[in-house]
Amino acid sequence: MNVHAKRYTRTAIWLHWITAILMLVMLFQQMFGDNWMRVPIGASLAGWKPSAHASIGILILLLGLARLFWRVANPPPALPVAMPSWQVWASHVTHWMFYALMLGLPVTGMLALVPYGADRLDVDQVSFFGLIPTGFMPDLGTWTGAAHELLTNIAKLLVIVHVLAALKHQFWDRDGLMGRMSPMRKASSKAAYSEQTAPNSSRQ
Ligand code: HEM
Ligand code: HEM
Repeated sequence: MNVHAKRYTRTAIWLHWITAILMLVMLFQQMFGDNWMRVPIGASLAGWKPSAHASIGILILLLGLARLFWRVANPPPALPVAMPSWQVWASHVTHWMFYALMLGLPVTGMLALVPYGADRLDVDQVSFFGLIPTGFMPDLGTWTGAAHELLTNIAKLLVIVHVLAALKHQFWDRDGLMGRMSPMRKASSKAAYSEQTAPNSSRQ
């Protein structure tokens, strides 16, 4: 995609929505029953839930890496010229923080697993979709769990800001920004973007 494109590429759109859904499920997993990783001290980690937590988390890491490579190779469409510079700056910061979180959350989680499991049993039973055991990281101490939790809280905050920003653009500014990330529209659709877009803008 070049900077004159009106929308994200189809690949970027599908990667966005798949990772977004997985990330939302992981961040708000308490809403789907209990926390999938927490088990009482002395209890076994061998159930399916810790492995589900680890598997989806590592899947997010792999998809996040794919997104990052795709993003570097395919610059996003230019933003509306009328968008205030603070909003351009805020969207860049938010988006790059999301990329950092898609990598940082699973890595700190993997680092947290061994110290977290020290008081519990069967860490070696936690695996990536039953294929590869995930408890292979070095034991760097329990601060890794605190770092993991801190990142989950930052991510929750960022998701709220991101969704509110998307809703503002859709219903208040009506500048067609949501259409750029919509899987429902055809890749060639010009209606997906507002007239505010300067075709020769180099802002991204
Ligand atoms: C219901 C929830 C969500 C909505 C409505 C939404 C909507 C959007 C929209 C409309 C854009 C395009 C912005 C633009 O045109 O500049 C976007 C970009 C982005 N979203 Fe979301 N999003 C959601 C959830 C998430 C989540 C959970 C993540 C975390 C992984 C995420 C990460 C990103 C990133 C990194 C970009 C920038 C893509 C790029 O420029 O490379 N989104 N989102
Ligand atoms: C994007 C990926 C991930 C997200 C969004 C995520 C989210 C969470 C959440 C919400 C909690 C509960 C925090 C709390 O109770 O306040 C948690 C805890 C935990 N997660 Fe993850 N997780 C991810 C990836 C992983 C991975 C890949 C692993 C290990 C392979 C992992 C291992 C853990 C452990 C061990 C805890 C307990 C930490 C402690 O209390 O010391 N997580 N995670």
